[in-house]
Amino acid sequence: MTAILILNGPNLNLLGTRQPEVYGTTTLNDIEKMCAQKAALLNIRVDMRQSNHEGVLIDWIHAARGSFDGIIINAGAYTHTSIALMDAISSVAIPTLELHLSNIHEREDFRRISYIGKVAFDLIMGHGAAGYPMALERMVEHLKTT
Ligand code: DQA
Repeated sequence: MTAILILNGPNLNLLGTRQPEVYGTTTLNDIEKMCAQKAALLNIRVDMRQSNHEGVLIDWIHAARGSFDGIIINAGAYTHTSIALMDAISSVAIPTLELHLSNIHEREDFRRISYIGKVAFDLIMGHGAAGYPMALERMVEHLKTT
């Protein structure tokens, strides 16, 4: 069975109360349930995790080798800073999709730079929580064609 790892970076544990005007009111728990429902429909296995620590995210990416067919990552602010996360994704060579709740191209200039985008095969952003199940669909479609 296809297995997808969904990684969430710093501050995404606060979804629901964190800047709801930007990120909406859906919690990460709610998003996890939405992903589980979509996974059942797509007949795939999904494991969703969140960490505020760059090294933990890197360790999870390394450990994904041999266990997961694809990685969906909302790296939060590490998107814009972390060459280390970018290198981790390149190192494991697992197809990776970049995901954001907000449209990072329509916000502050510093959010336009994405290191994750340099190694991801696609980007989904600006759809709020709905972007997560969309990302699962996109990943499954991508894995079918590769
Ligand atoms: C985010 C966008 C990032 O710029 C920000 O630092 C986040 C959330 C998003 O999902 O829209 O933490 O990744």
